[in-house]
Amino acid sequence: MTRAAPAAVDLPSLLPRLRALLAARLGLHFDERQDDRLTAALTRVAGPVSPERFLDQMELAPTRARLDALAAELTVGETFFFRHAEQFDALRVDLLPLMTRAAPGSPATGPGGTRRRLRALSAGCASGEEAYTLAITLHRAGLLAQGVDWDVLAVDLNPAALARATAARYGEWSLRATTQEQRSLWFHRVDPGQWTPLPTIRERVRFAQRNLGQPDALFWAPGSFDIIFCRNVLIYFEASALRQAIRNLIGALAPGGVLFLGHAETLRGKEAADQEGLVLRQAHGCFFYRRETPASTRSWPLEWPATATPGPAAAPLAGLPAAMTAAEPVSDATRPDADAAADKGGDDQALLDEALHLIEAGQVEDGLRACARLISPGTPATLQAEGLFLHGLAMEERGQLPAAEWHHQRAAAKDASFALPHLRLGLLARRRGEVIAAHRELRRALELLEHESGDRLRRFGGGFDREDLRRLCRDEMQEIRA
Ligand SMILES: C[S@@+](CC[C@H](N)C(=O)[O-])C[C@H]1O[C@@H](n2cnc3c(N)ncnc32)[C@H](O)[C@@H]1O
Repeated sequence: MTRAAPAAVDLPSLLPRLRALLAARLGLHFDERQDDRLTAALTRVAGPVSPERFLDQMELAPTRARLDALAAELTVGETFFFRHAEQFDALRVDLLPLMTRAAPGSPATGPGGTRRRLRALSAGCASGEEAYTLAITLHRAGLLAQGVDWDVLAVDLNPAALARATAARYGEWSLRATTQEQRSLWFHRVDPGQWTPLPTIRERVRFAQRNLGQPDALFWAPGSFDIIFCRNVLIYFEASALRQAIRNLIGALAPGGVLFLGHAETLRGKEAADQEGLVLRQAHGCFFYRRETPASTRSWPLEWPATATPGPAAAPLAGLPAAMTAAEPVSDATRPDADAAADKGGDDQALLDEALHLIEAGQVEDGLRACARLISPGTPATLQAEGLFLHGLAMEERGQLPAAEWHHQRAAAKDASFALPHLRLGLLARRRGEVIAAHRELRRALELLEHESGDRLRRFGGGFDREDLRRLCRDEMQEIRA
């Protein structure tokens, strides 16, 4: 007698059960357009067990391993470094200076020598690119030099993504919005086509598995985070998980803290955000929520424009696209040479600006690394000269005057029309009492300043214009003669 073949499983009829399971256990929402994805995931995760039996078991006693497997199959982990870079610019340029400004008269360290601390959360971090970009942004801001300690906690539902985040090896696709300058400063190559953030960045980021849609009073304690990035995550949530996640995020935001959502996302039910003291603000062309306190409201320089279109606040979250339409990367090999050369020039200028910014922010070591990249045979002589000059300024800042002079001399030799190294050399020589050398250098600076480029004066002139600097040279020369 032959045994009857098992009845073919009617997979579509199981999908409502799978949907309910995913909503209840993972807080994920899937509509009918995703039936094929759900069917494939169910078949794969059930493995040798029949899909129906798998659902029976999961409804009765779900296991962590199987939930993780479903999360790994069904979450969308699309992400990349410097995604929506303007949000990181807004944070660094406009927000961090406000957030780290100590109350007048308060010491840089607290009781027992503790430093002030800034805590950032990357909520729904996927494979870690957003968390490391946040860490790069905070590092660049020179917080430690201002007595502010900081760290980034990054959480996600999907343990497979978290394992990739911890391994921190990234290919070109993850770096598609990362400029050459950022790449050369904050990453190093581990294998051909594989990059990892520098240890100084990696050591500040921790990863943990967490479901944003579940309550946890300890983790989401009021004031736990000063900066929260939760971008392109809430769009996948089922309604009640979404409500809980928003409660979690809003509740944990510290006074003066900021919450960034995806580019086109908003908090559903804006009144809820208002009631909690969150205000929608804008900077650098992007929107974010801020928990305002009477003091922080006064200090915010950019008011919400009364007549402006309310931007993303008007759009319902659930109807928004997933905003995952990154442009195709263009390889250097396919670009005309002139374009590539122009790009390289632009990259070098950006590297110079970054070096200047880092040194001004007190991140002198990083600034000097940026200078060192400029002072290489492949860079135009004018830029090498500027890199050397900047290096010289950093050495002056540190009180290493012989090294400063050496760099200024090399800068002057590299670009004979560069006035500012002569000015610094003149001032340094005068300080040493070498009047002849001082006079010679200041005189040369005075001549060259007449034709010095406006760009250079803006960058390196310390806020003085051409005439101010020429006057300085003349005054110094007169004092030497006197
Ligand atoms: C599209 S990625 C966004 C990555 C990053 N935030 C960005 O914008 O580049 C969405 C991430 O949200 C995670 N996610 C979805 N539901 C979640 C939940 N309930 N709790 C935590 N993470 C969740 C997914 O696992 C996925 O890694």
